[in-house]
Parts: sequence; C-alpha cells; structure tokens
Amino acid sequence: MTSLISITIPQELITALHEAKHVLVFTGAGVSAESGISTFRDPLTGLWERFDPEDLATANGFRQDKALVWGWYEWRRMKVLKARPNPAHRAIAELAQHVPRLTVVTQNVDDLHERAGSTDVLHLHGSLHSPRCFACARPFSFPPGIPDEPEGGRRLCPPQCSHCGGDIRPGVVWFGENLPEDTLKQAFAAARECDLLFAIGTSGIVQPAARIPSLAKKAGAKLVQVNPQGTPLDYECTWSLRGGAGKIMPSLVQMAFLWS
Ligand code: OAD
Repeated sequence: MTSLISITIPQELITALHEAKHVLVFTGAGVSAESGISTFRDPLTGLWERFDPEDLATANGFRQDKALVWGWYEWRRMKVLKARPNPAHRAIAELAQHVPRLTVVTQNVDDLHERAGSTDVLHLHGSLHSPRCFACARPFSFPPGIPDEPEGGRRLCPPQCSHCGGDIRPGVVWFGENLPEDTLKQAFAAARECDLLFAIGTSGIVQPAARIPSLAKKAGAKLVQVNPQGTPLDYECTWSLRGGAGKIMPSLVQMAFLWS
C-alpha cells in the first residue's frame, strides 16, 4: 500500500463504505494504465488511437489476416505477462477484506486484479490468457512462460487446435460478438444487488457493459467514479474523484479502514 497523499475523500463516502453490504467495483483499461498497459481511447496513447479495431478486433479482421491479429494479441499478452499489479489493483483486493462482499466486474482482458489478490472477478470481455479454437471453440493452453518477441515484426501465425486442426483465436470478445452469457448475467445481478458501485478507469461507453452503473443506480446504489478525466458517468455519480486510480484507491482504503 502506498503512503497517503493529499487527496480529498468526502466523509460521506467513507461512511457509505463503512455501511456497504455489497460493493461492486466496475473497472476499465484505466485501472491498469499505471501498470504500463495501454488504454483504448486516451489521446495519443490509446490502442484505438493507433490501431484500427475493424482489422484487429472483429471476426472478419481475423479471417482476413490471422497472423496480423494473432501477433497483435500475443504482443499485448506479452506486455501483460511482464506487467505487475499497481496500487489500485492491490487496494481493490484489500478493500474486499473490509466489506461483507465485493465483486469486481472488469472489462479488462488482463489478469492483474487476480494477481493482486482479488478473488471474485467477472471478466466481461474475456481474457488474453484463454484462447480457443476459431472452428470448434475448444480451449487452447499456452506453453508456460513469456513468449519470445516474433522476429521481423509482430505478425505471428496462430497455433492449431490439437482436436480439429482449426486456427486458435484470442479469448477476448470482439466487436459484433456476444459477451459471455453467464458472466454478463452475474454482473447484472451484482449491479442490482450492490449498494455502492465504484466505476474506475472506464470511459463507460461500450455496451452492454456500460449499463452496469445505471442498473446499480436504478436499484438504489450510490455511484463513485475514479478517473482523471470526465466521462458520461459524471452525471450519474454521487462522487466523482478526479485522478489516477493508483493514488486515489489506496488513499480511500487507508482513510476508511486502516486509520480508523
Ligand atoms: P477506454 O480507453 O475507453 O477508457 C479508459 C478510461 O481510463 C478513460 O476514461 C481514462 O480517462 C481513464 N484513465 C486513464 N488513466 C487512468 C488512471 N491512471 N486511473 C484511472 N483512470 C484512468 O477503456 P475502457 O473503458 O476499458 O473492449 O474501454 C471499454 C472497452 O472498449 C474495452 O474493454 C475494449 C474496448 O474496445 C474490448 O476489447 C471488447
């Protein structure tokens, strides 16, 4: 846990945390930004500012150029394998020790929440670490360790399925695909049940995940946003904490639980 820095956390929020029975932490790419993982829409650094999602994040893009797509996701997986959870991931895991129930619902395809110690984590957009066959959908296991950087650029042919010989695809949800049904159901149920929801590091614009904060609000939960920038969620939130999650979340947990 990092040391406390001067961030103003409203006392009403601390009280709401003390009284909460079920906290939902809804995260996006911004929670991993301080681990060195790129977000999607931040100007200059966002992945979709530099790469075309039509080519890299659709089934059609994969059909058209499998080596381009597989190589790009392997490059991203390699970055995640080398990255470490940051103080925000760790503070969220710590927070779970102090409230009766905490569910993490993440749009992220990395495993940094789990590596920080969070246990109840729902991945709405799949995982870089769970590829499957494009033809028969059987899961594929990566060999252990961090893969070598492909020679001569990022293109890399996907491995073949040992069952049907089909090409292996990344285990993430692409544009135009459905989210994993059970996971989405559990996330919506958690949104309806929670009494306090943190939206951390998400632009909050990609559906259907973006419905989660408003579902929670409709069911009576209070919303907290943690983000250095404004988002459409500003209008729904009870508290908007402006700044990096790696600073705000540890301060919040310290103030609410470790110092009282
Ligand atoms: P975005 O890139 O849309 O938004 C990232 C948010 O994080 C922005 O609002 C930033 O201001 C904020 N941010 C940046 N640094 C931060 C920090 N240190 N602490 C807190 N917040 C920070 O990413 P997502 O909202 O996750 O979908 O995007 C949603 C989905 O769009 C992704 O899951 C992905 C993408 O297409 C799939 O891959 C299916």
